[in-house]
Amino acid sequence: MGSSESAAGRNRCLTGIDGLDNILYGGLPRNNAILVTGSCGTGKTSMSLEFLLHGAEEGEMGIFVAATEPPEKLKENMMPYDFYDPQMLEKKQILFIDLHELYKKAKTEAPEIDQKGSEALIKAIVGAVRSHGAKRLVIDSITSICARLLTADLIREFIRGLSHALAQEGCTALLIAEVPAGEHRYSPYGVEEAVVDGVILLGNLERQGDLLRTLQVVKMRGTTHSRAKYILDLTSVGVLLAPLLKGGG
Ligand SMILES: Nc1ncnc2c1ncn2[C@@H]1O[C@H](COP(=O)(O)OP(=O)(O)OP(=O)(O)O)[C@@H](O)[C@H]1O
Ligand SMILES: [Mg+2]
Repeated sequence: MGSSESAAGRNRCLTGIDGLDNILYGGLPRNNAILVTGSCGTGKTSMSLEFLLHGAEEGEMGIFVAATEPPEKLKENMMPYDFYDPQMLEKKQILFIDLHELYKKAKTEAPEIDQKGSEALIKAIVGAVRSHGAKRLVIDSITSICARLLTADLIREFIRGLSHALAQEGCTALLIAEVPAGEHRYSPYGVEEAVVDGVILLGNLERQGDLLRTLQVVKMRGTTHSRAKYILDLTSVGVLLAPLLKGGG
């Protein structure tokens, strides 16, 4: 079993979140682009930062493309973690890039992005990944880019093109989607989930007066996985997952 097992290991990208790696039977399939989707406060950013921190621990360079939160604030979010090491930022094992810098590079600063702009933006993102040798990428959020693409077809082509180009670079990506609270869908435009390789759905669950966070792997090409709903806990040792016991609420 030894050699096939290690081959499988090389093809997996450990998130470092033990519960999630277990659900996926050994981590994310490498080079996949995965939609991390959920409403506000469900833990999308925290989970993604942890993915990069654990990557840095493993010697894998990671890039966080930030659209809404300033890098300084995001860095502060990392500090409480036991496994955070300031050297990871000093040595550029984790790099924060403002999405607007990429818009500038791609000359897509205008509020609407057409086909040509979409291709230029993919080039700018992949260029950053290539020049830093990044093995992990987070875009927080892909929704803010989709909002500038003019049609559903352009959104589909953008995500498809980006996923393909990132896979060629050997980069595993978490693309964050923001869904309005209370809406039972996987993405705001309804096409994102079809194009990506995987979907991790974060949510809220009211139980006995508490608002719990939940995680569910909805799809993941290239691996078998549990589709059960788990309780997600944000702690100083990172994301902890526990099976959702039915009938408790
Ligand atoms: N280590 C931690 N321990 C406890 N709570 C935390 C921890 N990290 C983050 N939180 C809390 O979790 C909440 C949600 O985190 P996060 O910002 O990751 O969610 P999000 O889904 O990205 O939200 P948004 O859609 O607003 O960007 C925040 O309100 C924050 O206070
Ligand atoms: Mg967030």
